[in-house]
Amino acid sequence: MAFAPFDQAGIPVEDQFRSWSELNVDPLSSRPDDPYTLARVILMNGTEVEAALFSHHFSRQTDNPEIKRSLALSRRVEQQQQKAVNWLLPGDASPLETTLSYEQVAVDLTAWLARMEPDPTIQQALNFALLEDFDHLYRYANLYELIDGRHAEEITQHLTEITPGRPTFIEHRHPFDELRPHFATQTVDPLSRLHVMTITSAEQQTLNYYMNHGPDFMEPIARGLYAEIAQIEEQHVSHYESMLDPLDSWFANLLFHEFNEVYLYWSMFQQETDERVKALWELHLNMELGQLQEAARLLRKYEGREPLELLPPELPEIPLTFESNKQYVRDVLAAEIDLRADGLLIVPESELPSDHRWWAFQKTVNAGGSPTEEIINLQRDKQGRDYRDETEGPNPVPALRGTQDATV
Ligand SMILES: [Fe+2]
Ligand SMILES: [Fe+2]
Ligand SMILES: [Fe+2]
Ligand SMILES: [Fe+2]
Repeated sequence: MAFAPFDQAGIPVEDQFRSWSELNVDPLSSRPDDPYTLARVILMNGTEVEAALFSHHFSRQTDNPEIKRSLALSRRVEQQQQKAVNWLLPGDASPLETTLSYEQVAVDLTAWLARMEPDPTIQQALNFALLEDFDHLYRYANLYELIDGRHAEEITQHLTEITPGRPTFIEHRHPFDELRPHFATQTVDPLSRLHVMTITSAEQQTLNYYMNHGPDFMEPIARGLYAEIAQIEEQHVSHYESMLDPLDSWFANLLFHEFNEVYLYWSMFQQETDERVKALWELHLNMELGQLQEAARLLRKYEGREPLELLPPELPEIPLTFESNKQYVRDVLAAEIDLRADGLLIVPESELPSDHRWWAFQKTVNAGGSPTEEIINLQRDKQGRDYRDETEGPNPVPALRGTQDATV
């Protein structure tokens, strides 16, 4: 049944504030029955962080007191929503365990979006970064075994395979090659806009998490791994945000942000298996509907435009879904492992000229080795093997099979 956000009043923004006890929610178990409950929490936290940061940037661009007050009001609520969502994370999960959940989110979110994406250029961009986050999961899983003696499958529960993707040391590219072509706001499929906004927020939160938690560790290999992978997440944020139309106004962007939050809470609500968390998604959906009404009011007042000139009247038919995407990831890995970025294009490595800046950049950052390779070598020295969770058979790329060197 189609959901029409602009036909719903939602909760007025002024009525959305909650007390500290309501924000200080009881955390989930670190081994929940459904690991995708944690995935939904991580995604929605990233969405709320983006909502607050976007609102701060908008506020710095205007001296109109009414607009500033409206933004301050909604933003304070976005920040309360962020606390109520992120405080669901279990306090007994270590930063590394939460990291494993973050990369499981990256893999299964990106793969699902790519499967549903109508625009071939955007789909290619999703597939491209999918193989990189897939590899991060493997590297962190090996760190987990090395320093904690535990297996990442306790967390991923075999829903996401763990095996090398595009090796992380190969992912480092010159900043000029991390930018993609942007869509045009008048012609983009509304679903593509939602996909790009969603993945940009998720990658940005992953970047923030690694930036802040990398120094939590004593072990030099762990600190090195976070530093290296955080730089790839920076590439991913640049890669995805560059696909958004940069000519959209601040008011239009505010509307798009609220619409995307409505879409995501509506999606999370429909698939949530934990009844307590489901009630939170429903409450936040009703809050976002109220925030959307306020964004629509600002758009009408300051730009004389109707929201339905910019957005469809209804949400997509299918909610965004966390589910296993194993065969899809395998197919992309087999077909696209050798792709590299060249300016705005994504091409096979064999098409890069020998003097391409990619080679020079690789040489600079990987001089003296790469922690993401070192972790695998340490594991092989100690265990005689690396750690993998290949539930569907050997890695689809022969060079990445077994205990051979992960280098391709
Ligand atoms: Fe929000
Ligand atoms: Fe990642
Ligand atoms: Fe990423
Ligand atoms: Fe919002």
